[in-house]
Amino acid sequence: MKTFKAGMIGLGTVGVGVYKLLQSFNKIKIENIAVKNINKKRDIENFNTNLLTDNPFDIVNNPDIDIVIEVAGGISPAFEILSAAIKNKKHIVTANKELLAKRGSELFGLAKENNVTILYEAAVAGGIPIIMPIKTTLCANKINKIAAILNGTTNYILTKMAEKELSYETALKQAQDLGYAETDPTGDVEGFDAAYKIAILSTISFNKKIDINKIYTEGITNIKPQDIKAAKELGYTIKLIAMGQLLDDGRVDVRVHPMLVAKKHLLAKVKNATNSIMISGYPVGDLVLTGAGAGAEPTSSSVVGDLLTLTSELEISDYPLPLTKCKHDENAVQIDIGDTYNEYYISIQASNNPGVIGIIGTICGKNNINISTIMQKGIDEDNTAEIVVITEKSKESDVKNALENLLKSDSINKINSLLRVMN
Ligand SMILES: NC(=O)c1ccc[n+]([C@@H]2O[C@H](COP(=O)([O-])OP(=O)(O)OC[C@H]3O[C@@H](n4cnc5c(N)ncnc54)[C@H](OP(=O)(O)O)[C@@H]3O)[C@@H](O)[C@H]2O)c1
Repeated sequence: MKTFKAGMIGLGTVGVGVYKLLQSFNKIKIENIAVKNINKKRDIENFNTNLLTDNPFDIVNNPDIDIVIEVAGGISPAFEILSAAIKNKKHIVTANKELLAKRGSELFGLAKENNVTILYEAAVAGGIPIIMPIKTTLCANKINKIAAILNGTTNYILTKMAEKELSYETALKQAQDLGYAETDPTGDVEGFDAAYKIAILSTISFNKKIDINKIYTEGITNIKPQDIKAAKELGYTIKLIAMGQLLDDGRVDVRVHPMLVAKKHLLAKVKNATNSIMISGYPVGDLVLTGAGAGAEPTSSSVVGDLLTLTSELEISDYPLPLTKCKHDENAVQIDIGDTYNEYYISIQASNNPGVIGIIGTICGKNNINISTIMQKGIDEDNTAEIVVITEKSKESDVKNALENLLKSDSINKINSLLRVMN
């Protein structure tokens, strides 16, 4: 059996998990590990600190190294490091979703030119196997829809808001105290992390390059306890959903935003930091994969799985895993959120005037919106009332017009919330 030499960039949460798991597989030998601070204490028993370097280019320029494992994160210097590694004919295994979503196209192009492979199972949904199944086992399918919970932090926060009736701020603080959310949670709570992942999944599912800048991205920071409560009363739970759809005309609809998900839907049952991905395709039908989307151990399962798959192939071929190579030379035509069709939940703050429900109904009607449910939630001391509306499937731009017109009425004080609905 041949032993392959690998270099690691990064020895943080994922790196430590990968290093520990690799001790059980003598097929792969770690030659060097690049870190930012070589003096930092590492949570690894009997760790040989001589493996460490603070210069990642020591690794990518070392002719003895066959594979570079990138578990550092970020765009720069990760992009420069991996570009140099690829030019030096090294295969890459990475967990870096942000890098692949923003600059994957350049890296895959470079990999093609240099006849090397980039594997990235860990970049989407940590321990859930999804990249390799889409690229290999499911390659006979036409995949036309992905709907997923791809961010554990936001799912944890929304679960606690629903179960313990917490405000967003309190639930976030709890998530931070328990290590589920970072000190700066922006990337998670504003939906960027989920957007990177759905960009990668949509690109490989639809075989078209998705532009991350054209993904409509809305996070969970505006979700209010009264939305969670109203959703519950109406038979829904609120989740941050990452969605990718291939439309009949070949355009794609890729977006991330919170949704009211019907309680009977499988994604509504996914709680706490768990991730879940629902894929629909022909001929396979609907598939759901659920599991740990982050954490040292689940993520190491994906990184080391990629490494073992790659090295098994390298024993027999100089052109390993051809099915995993990128096949998406075409840019996707991504539709604007205004052109999408959804069912909507609208929470309206109205004066308690006679005829206010009629005004809402008329304005919705004039904008091609059919109402499926309308509910007034009591009257406040200031003689205003919260009115909750669920619409039938309507065009987003029509809904936005209706909201503008509603705000022109003396009876409507403000729009509290607008959320999309998934049944
Ligand atoms: N955490 C998860 O559960 C998870 C799951 C899936 C995917 N990922 C992805 O995996 C990657 C790593 O995440 P993580 O949570 O393990 O991050 P982390 O704990 O912050 O670790 C990052 C590591 O990279 C090293 N590093 C940072 N900049 C460097 C540079 N310029 N040169 C060399 N080393 C550098 C750091 O060195 P020091 O230790 O010296 O600071 C650290 O060891 C990210 O792309 C992340 O999105 C993470």
